[in-house]
Amino acid sequence: MRGSHLLSIADLSRLEVLEVLDTARELARITDGGIRKLPTLRGRTVVNLFFEDSTRTRLSFEAAAKRLSAEIINFSAKGSSVSKGESLKDTAQTLEAMGAELMIIRHSASGAALRLAESGWVKSHIVNAGDGMHEHPTQALLDAYSMREHFPEHDRDFSGLRVGIVGDILHSRVARSNVLLLTTLGAQVVLIAPPTLLPIAIDQWPVEVSYNLDSEIRSLDAIMMLRVQAERMKDAFFPSEREYARDYGLVGARLKELKESAIIMHPGPMNRGLEISAQSADCRQSVILEQVANGVLVRMAVLYLLMGGAPIPTGGMLI
Ligand code: CP
Repeated sequence: MRGSHLLSIADLSRLEVLEVLDTARELARITDGGIRKLPTLRGRTVVNLFFEDSTRTRLSFEAAAKRLSAEIINFSAKGSSVSKGESLKDTAQTLEAMGAELMIIRHSASGAALRLAESGWVKSHIVNAGDGMHEHPTQALLDAYSMREHFPEHDRDFSGLRVGIVGDILHSRVARSNVLLLTTLGAQVVLIAPPTLLPIAIDQWPVEVSYNLDSEIRSLDAIMMLRVQAERMKDAFFPSEREYARDYGLVGARLKELKESAIIMHPGPMNRGLEISAQSADCRQSVILEQVANGVLVRMAVLYLLMGGAPIPTGGMLI
């Protein structure tokens, strides 16, 4: 990666995306070969700076840092001096004074990671781990990694792959980052949602839009079900959960309509019974837990590349 931060997929070229995915694959090869911990970032310090709740992203960054032998400091706004009014600037500077060189930030405000990167408050590398409804770049990278593993014929080019992103597009930073990344790699993306859960100016996105899941489902190679983000909904966006599940959930007999080769994805956490049934989440075609495992590899690659690693030659060593 050229920059010293990872703030948005829009900042990455196709080659830079492939560099992250190739690095993650090389890390997988090394760890599958039995080397669980690499000394690559020994003596370096990484901070998880989380102002919003997280299970997968926070813990997988922690696992990634530890597997590269970095020190990791975990900060959660809950239980911290943020409740006493401490600002983002003071919090970040405090953590940098403790040795932080890279900060992974999740925040409810869109643009928080960019603000931290451009403010000059800290010198650390900044990684966006989800900023409001804006972006979640490492989620999109791990999703692309997971698709690539399932469609080896599309290893460096997703042209010909049709990906459906279904549900609460409006509130989804995962959808925004995935649209940018999947179209960068050449995939055809169709957003499937009720009109109330699509952003304004959706016609300017490089995607198709459909309100009808049943008319699209047979055409998809990958279906990405999005969480209904109730915590971001002040108004009613659909008549009832039952109607939402009926029209936009991967539930009941709809599962059988998928191509046999199609994969089912979900960034998590899932609302089982709403956007996805337990049967769909746990079936043979589901790659949801693979996404989680791949998240550690992709985040190792991001830390490695931002903190001083050169691209790894094929068959090369990281140490
Ligand atoms: N996918 C994702 O960002 O999950 P968490 O909120 O658990 O980190």
